[in-house]
Amino acid sequence: MADQLVVAAVLVDDLSAPTRALAARRTRPESLAGRWELPGGKVEPGEDPVAALRRELREELEVDLEVGAELEAPGSLPGWPLTAGLVMRVWWCAVASGEAHAGEAHDALAWVDAASINDLAWLTPDLPVVDAIVARLAPA
Ligand code: CDP
Repeated sequence: MADQLVVAAVLVDDLSAPTRALAARRTRPESLAGRWELPGGKVEPGEDPVAALRRELREELEVDLEVGAELEAPGSLPGWPLTAGLVMRVWWCAVASGEAHAGEAHDALAWVDAASINDLAWLTPDLPVVDAIVARLAPA
């Protein structure tokens, strides 16, 4: 069976010169609660991935997105591998309208810069993505 696609946003303060990115602390399931992630979720059958990204961020954080370039996975991988059976595609994004609020899926949000991003307890599969983000963030 094909991998389930998960989409996530690197929501940044400024798409052309990003200095800070938004991290969200999960509330569920219990095994992942308290860990930080790039917000996003599963693409539904037949759904366009970027449409899914917009839907997830509206549902989870109450923001409409400006979607920028994809944060390409290394090599020729189709996305960033998560746990078995899940693969994640990630896009640089900015808030087009609204202000990010934690809903049910998260109990805290944090805008982090290159110096503080690694202070958070990220979901393990997000760590390689975080490394790629740090390499692209300008000093705050
Ligand atoms: O809310 P929905 O069921 O659509 O998806 P989710 O629970 O947010 O994400 C599905 C799975 O992808 C989670 O169980 C996490 O294991 C994984 N995930 C991740 O590793 N890193 C992220 N930034 C987002 C999701």
